[in-house]
Amino acid sequence: MTRMTRGAARSMAILVAALALVLVANRTAGAPLGGPQQSVVAESGMVSTSNHYATLVGLEILQSGGAAIDAMVAVQLALTVTEPYASGIGGGCFIMLHDAATGSIVALDGREEAPAAYHGAVFLDDNGDVIPFDERSTGGMPVGVPGTLAAMARALDEYGTMTLSDLAAPAVRLARDGFVLDRGFSQQIAANKERLARFPHSVALYLTSDGEAKASGSTFHNPDLADTLELIAAEGVDAFYNGAIAQDIVGAVRMAPHNPGVMTAADVARYRAVYREPVRSGYRGYEVVGMNMPTSGGASLAMMLNLLEGVDLPSMTWGSLAATRRIADAQNIVFADRNAYMGDADFVDVPLERLLSKDYARTRRGLMLPLNAVPPPVAPGDLGLTPSNGSAEGGHTTHFCVVDSQRNVVSVTTTIERYFGSAMTVPGRGFLLNNELTDFETHALNDDGTFAANGPSGGVRARRTALGDDAETQGGKRPRSSMAPTIVLRDGRPVLAVGSPGGSTIIGTTLNVILNVLDFGMDVQEAVNAPRVIARNGAVDLESRLFADAALVAGLRAKGFVVRDAGSVGAAQAVGIADDGSLRGAADPRKNGLALGH
Ligand code: GLY
Repeated sequence: MTRMTRGAARSMAILVAALALVLVANRTAGAPLGGPQQSVVAESGMVSTSNHYATLVGLEILQSGGAAIDAMVAVQLALTVTEPYASGIGGGCFIMLHDAATGSIVALDGREEAPAAYHGAVFLDDNGDVIPFDERSTGGMPVGVPGTLAAMARALDEYGTMTLSDLAAPAVRLARDGFVLDRGFSQQIAANKERLARFPHSVALYLTSDGEAKASGSTFHNPDLADTLELIAAEGVDAFYNGAIAQDIVGAVRMAPHNPGVMTAADVARYRAVYREPVRSGYRGYEVVGMNMPTSGGASLAMMLNLLEGVDLPSMTWGSLAATRRIADAQNIVFADRNAYMGDADFVDVPLERLLSKDYARTRRGLMLPLNAVPPPVAPGDLGLTPSNGSAEGGHTTHFCVVDSQRNVVSVTTTIERYFGSAMTVPGRGFLLNNELTDFETHALNDDGTFAANGPSGGVRARRTALGDDAETQGGKRPRSSMAPTIVLRDGRPVLAVGSPGGSTIIGTTLNVILNVLDFGMDVQEAVNAPRVIARNGAVDLESRLFADAALVAGLRAKGFVVRDAGSVGAAQAVGIADDGSLRGAADPRKNGLALGH
């Protein structure tokens, strides 16, 4: 073998160094994803949504002097028009607000609610078999009493500066004058064509005269929705919960040509958006604040961070085997408890204090093995309660964030459950109803006959975990969610608002973005773009761009992980607030999001 010349050796060293740099760069930022690579930077305010019309509406409100809460309401009403398949006034939401005036964080639960006459066998056929998802999610029975409008109006009442009428105006304009349907919208109509075809008012809105999906590039009008929003703007949300709109919702549900439901006018009138105690957890000097039950999102995220606080992620390389296996382990461990114990805490005892304690995290961290994956199935912790069998919420949903010049921050995850929800448009009203009640498990009881934490249930109860006067009110059970709108603080100052759609992958997606910013030091947009590691119930789903790393996949498999190619997961929107007070807006290219600031 000839000895290398000094020049050749130097060239080789440069080549090796360059290759190492490329590898580190790929590890740091992930393989490129189309769309923005860096955050949008602004000084005054920022809006990030998954739909450009809604982002423009939010920005218009901020620029006219509105507060973040004002922009939130306008964005949600616009999304009801321009992204109706993902969220709207026929669905539910969770709102996290950092109120700059008091420095407090407010968590408002606008989750849909089961009618009083709902019962534990709604998802079972006459033989006791579970009705397939496509069937049980379509029509009247899966529709929960909508909560989005109640939550938006309550937040506006208490924290807003503008009128509902002013904030509805841009959405009315979009619905009446029309907007251009994009490719994603048209593709989703096509994917749900058969379900939509069962309901004449959905056919009229979303399909052409020959029964095809309305085409991308066509102008979409929704005059019924424009009238509905004008009525709400004029008469307030009472028109929705007690007036003519409530009657039309109940009529649509009970008279549904498929799967008629049991909702009554009393169920709709009883609905309240309620304040909940936010879930707070410390993580490496930050405070991560999320939503409480009935979503599992905030508590699960806090538990994952509690586990990962004992792992020195900041000294590890993003995308390395060492970091990835621990991020996966933490998610798998927490999902066991989430499935077993979380549900509507007004109906079931959720052992939240224990689950969130650092002591409990230390115990559960003991499941992590030095060499191998935590072997599935991970058993839930023994908390003296019967664990439920557990199932994963489906769902598409959407997330948005707004920050205003005063540094009020809103982080909202909002949904009608699967795309197009129940597929039913309320006749004459132009909005879709949700199918959120399929987020309950299919069985009301556990194997031993005890009440399942997230089982479907009828009747009404006191809202015992609601704050203040809300605890005096009564309501039906709310299905467990995974939605995880989050605000991260440092020394009491908000530094990041984030969340995502994606059913039970929401929790992992939100975790990934938070770790990418806090532990791996990424810019917010880079953190959103980076391919995700999602683990639930024993399996590890890597987004395709990460699954392409053969060495990582082989390394994980050698440690006993079940690794799958997850394609693309979630659609996170996030806004960061830098130390100098400037804003960093990020929107997820996976769903054509847009962040804009001023
Ligand atoms: N329907 C999705 C969720 O609430 O998590």
